[in-house]
This record gives sequence, structure tokens and C-alpha cells, in this order.
Amino acid sequence: MLAGKHILTGITGGIAAYKTAALVRLLVKEGAEIKVVMTETARRFITPLTMATLSKNPVMVDFFNPENGEWNSHVSLGLWADAYIIAPATANSIGKMAAGIADNLLLTAYLSAKCPVFVAPAMDLDMYRHPAICRNIETLKSHGDIIIDAETGKLASGLEGRGRMAEPETIVAHVNSYFEASFSGMRALVTAGPTYERIDPVRFISNYSSGKMGYAIAETLAQQGADVILISGPTHLSPMHPNIRRVNTVSASEMYEECLHLFPSCDIAVMCAAVADFTPEKQEENKIKQKTDLTISLTKTKDIAAELGRIKQDRQILAGFALETENELHNAREKLKSKNMDFIVLNSLNDTGSGFGIDTNRITIIDSDGREIRFDTKPKTAVAKDIVFHIQQKLKEITDSEL
Ligand code: CTP
Repeated sequence: MLAGKHILTGITGGIAAYKTAALVRLLVKEGAEIKVVMTETARRFITPLTMATLSKNPVMVDFFNPENGEWNSHVSLGLWADAYIIAPATANSIGKMAAGIADNLLLTAYLSAKCPVFVAPAMDLDMYRHPAICRNIETLKSHGDIIIDAETGKLASGLEGRGRMAEPETIVAHVNSYFEASFSGMRALVTAGPTYERIDPVRFISNYSSGKMGYAIAETLAQQGADVILISGPTHLSPMHPNIRRVNTVSASEMYEECLHLFPSCDIAVMCAAVADFTPEKQEENKIKQKTDLTISLTKTKDIAAELGRIKQDRQILAGFALETENELHNAREKLKSKNMDFIVLNSLNDTGSGFGIDTNRITIIDSDGREIRFDTKPKTAVAKDIVFHIQQKLKEITDSEL
């Protein structure tokens, strides 16, 4: 599973750092390409020379290589990595990651990482159960990070309890199972952003959608191996992942044409765009001049999700969104059914933390099998991971039902 994967390994300053040498050996044995980034304190526990030899790559500690001034770019590391494993993760580093502090290369790479982040904490038992640490670990989970729980056993302090870093084999098993459940070889279509419905050469009808949610879903699917076609309305965003091909559209009818053309070759479609429901009946050639009264006749646009639902095959997953301001659950269930979706993601403008242009969202997933799963308010990147995880579960159900 890990052959050819780029794995960034971060080592913070704890005694369990010696186990990271074994972890890197195992990852290399699995065929992964490894780069190691260490904190200054980690160097006291295990030498960069050991880690460079095992990883077959120079180890990075500073923002700049002290020998030649070369910049160790955390942004490039974040883009290079298919997975970032931080092991051991000390209480101090976990606190900084939770707070967004960026005072070393390992932490800046964490903040820049586009890939799944695995965190293997290691500390003394009383620290591990301290409310401050529990809270910080919860915060990391809300970022979408995967926590590999510390194990119970003899600790460096001589005490016995939970706090030992998970064994290297356990960490590799977590990373493996993450990639096993991935989307490699699959094609996903994601719509995102608003549409612009032209009135005249200078005016249009649109909505407040920023596209952030759809772009986050496209990024997450791509990170997990899918080939993603992102059919985007006009936004200020740009996709980062090389597995994302963006198709730019402006109007609802352009988006409809692209979706209809591309959906048959896709395994997954996530309809995240805020498609205009109405478009001017007539588009003026010239700018409409100032008048005392102006009435614009609108006609309905085609419903893209409903059309994809109509032509959907059994092996295809179709997911959509419902943005509601009233009777939220009822309306979302109706849309799920009428558009023949596998699940719908409800967000209500009445929830604080949800809505246009902001970086968080609070969702409820309503599944066609009747399940309703309510999530906490989270950053849109973490919400994207929850949605993508649900797609994985649906695909697994399809595979299991075929056995
Ligand atoms: N959608 C679509 N094409 C449209 C309208 C909506 O593909 N012409 C999709 C959206 O991308 C979303 C789902 O349908 O996945 C629901 O969109 P929403 O705007 O919440 O609801 P509508 O179906 O437009 O219904 P209403 O405006 O009456 O709430």
C-alpha cells in the first residue's frame, strides 16, 4: 500500500524518538519515500545522522540549511507529502499544533500540510490524561488529524500507565489502512462555487458561495488518490493538488453541460455548487440603461443533481448539499429523495459557524438508508474529511453487497 508514497516523518523531543528509527525502517521497507523533519530538542534523543541514513534523505531541522543557506520550504514539504506522521508528538508540540504556533520547521510543515496527518503522542501518564492535553488532542481531531492513541505500559519515568508511543508496527498499520481505504484508481466529479447568470454585459444574478467547501472536498479526495474533476463556478480559489483537473464554468447551463458529459465516467459525484435556480429569460446585448422601472423575467435552470440522480448507475455514488433556512431536516430529506442521491449534507444558515464565505461548517449527513449523523462545527477542511469518509463507507457497502 505504501509503495511510492511520500511520507514526511516529524520527530519531536521525547524519549520515544528512538522508536521512530524503527518506524522509518519499516516505512522504507514498505517502499515509501521518506523525508524527516526534527525539532531542535529531538536531536538530543536521536541524531540526524541516524535518521538521514535510515530515510536515505538529508534531515531537516532548521528553516535554512546552516551549511549553504538553502531554504527548507515547509510549503513544498506540505505539498510533497502524501502523509505526515508526527511521532513522537510531545505534549508541548501537540499544544503548539492545536494553537497554530509556527516556531519551528516541523510545526510550519504541519500548518502547510495538505495531506492526512497522523499524530502519535508520547508522554507521561498524568500528562496524557490532563484536561489541557485532552482538549488539545480533541482540537487536533477537529483539524481532521488522525490520532494514534498512546499505549499502556512501562514509561520512561518508571511509572506504569497510558502514555507510551504506539509501536512502529501499529503506526504503519494505521497508515496502511488509511491508504487501503483510499480512492486510488477512482474518478470523482465535484462541483463548487456559485454560478453567474448574465443579465447584460455588466450584470449578473448570483449568490454568496465562495467555493471553499467544494474545493476542500476536491483536495481531500485527491489526497486520498482519486482523480478529481472540479467543475467550478467563478471563485478566487485555486486547487493545489496535481490530481485535480479544474473545469471552469460560469453559468448554470455551462455547469450542467460539463457535468452531464463527465459524470458517466466517474465513480463519485459531490454536488457542492450553489447553482442559481433561475436565469434571465433574455440576455441583453447592451447594458440596460437607467429606467424608472425594470422587470426581468426569469426562467428555471436545469437541476444538475437531479439529472445525475436520474442517470446514476448502481455503482456510482451521488452526494449533494442542502442549504436551508427553515424546516431544515424535512427539506433536506425531500431533496435527497427527489434527486436520488446516496446522501445529502445539510447545512443550515441558522447554525452559527455555518454559511457562505466562512471557514467553518456544521453539517448533518442524511443517508438514503435512513441514518442521520450530526457533526460539531469544524473547519471546512475537517468537514471535507468527514464527508469523504462517508463516501468511503458507501463504497465499501457497495463492494460488500457484491460479495
Ligand atoms: N443543485 C444542482 N442544480 C441546480 C440546483 C441545485 O445541482 N440547478 C444541487 C446543489 O449543488 C445541491 C443540491 O442540488 O447539491 C441542493 O441545492 P439547494 O440549493 O440546497 O436546493 P435546490 O434544489 O436548489 O432547492 P431550493 O432552492 O428550493 O432549496
